[in-house]
Amino acid sequence: MNAIEVNKVRKVYNQRDVALDGVSFTIKEGESVVILGHNGSGKSTLFRTLTGFEEPTEGSVTLLGREVDPGKRRHLRETRKKVGMVFQAFGLVDNVSVFQNVLFGALGQVKFAPATYSLFASEALRTRAMECLDRVGLAHLSERRADRLSGGQKQRIAIARMLMQDPEIILADEPIASLDPKAGREVMDLLADIAAERNITLLMILHQIPIAKKYADRFIALKNGEVFADNNVSVIDEDFETALFGSEGPKDPPADEKPGSMEQEAKSL
Ligand SMILES: Nc1ncnc2c1ncn2[C@@H]1O[C@H](COP(=O)(O)OP(=O)(O)OP(=O)(O)O)[C@@H](O)[C@H]1O
Ligand SMILES: [Mg+2]
Repeated sequence: MNAIEVNKVRKVYNQRDVALDGVSFTIKEGESVVILGHNGSGKSTLFRTLTGFEEPTEGSVTLLGREVDPGKRRHLRETRKKVGMVFQAFGLVDNVSVFQNVLFGALGQVKFAPATYSLFASEALRTRAMECLDRVGLAHLSERRADRLSGGQKQRIAIARMLMQDPEIILADEPIASLDPKAGREVMDLLADIAAERNITLLMILHQIPIAKKYADRFIALKNGEVFADNNVSVIDEDFETALFGSEGPKDPPADEKPGSMEQEAKSL
């Protein structure tokens, strides 16, 4: 089955700014795919349309066999439960414990509001939260406040939280852009291992070509809102990089870039 189907998606902001211009591709269950493209090429907009945080001006998106329609809130919530998201800025709640942050990952599956949630979480959920923390190797930090962690630890906690959803698809928008190279490699290894062991479809926006080549099978390159290339990562060479990014190569966004609206909305789900 296809995990993700994007069909002629066009997204125009303010009736004039074309962010996506007829983007189509399909991704099979269990594939690892990286999205490449210059700043402003439409990568994050594409992610927001995949999850229904943005409605395409034209075209359609299907995740796990269900059409994504921002107008159908309940239907969309059901689909989103199966989609784990990882962001550059982690998206943890700073002033509560690591354990509570991970519990929040199950919020889509229960009726309580976040404030009362951890008080009422069942023993089964608590056990699962500890298992997810254990999977990312940070069970020993469960009682620590989330703002007292390193960047790499924060991202691993964000991954543990996402595992509470038991996702079938992981969307990671520049998951290592705020991390040093060592922490970045650890986070990438973790994401890749988890995706492989659970046959999760992994779609990542990455800026570093060597990382993309190491961790993805296939890439989709966007240029000015269009699919410029869709191929195996092995074909990426210097000439291709120059054609895609120009002679200066890919640029990371500033590390203090504000979290995108999808992250804020995801937090409030
Ligand atoms: N909410 C918005 N309103 C208007 N224009 C927007 C909005 N969000 C994005 N855009 C525009 O759409 C285009 C694509 O932006 P997008 O954020 O998807 O690019 P990106 O590939 O993720 O870039 P980066 O590498 O800098 O993260 C840009 O020209 C951007 O200015
Ligand atoms: Mg972006």
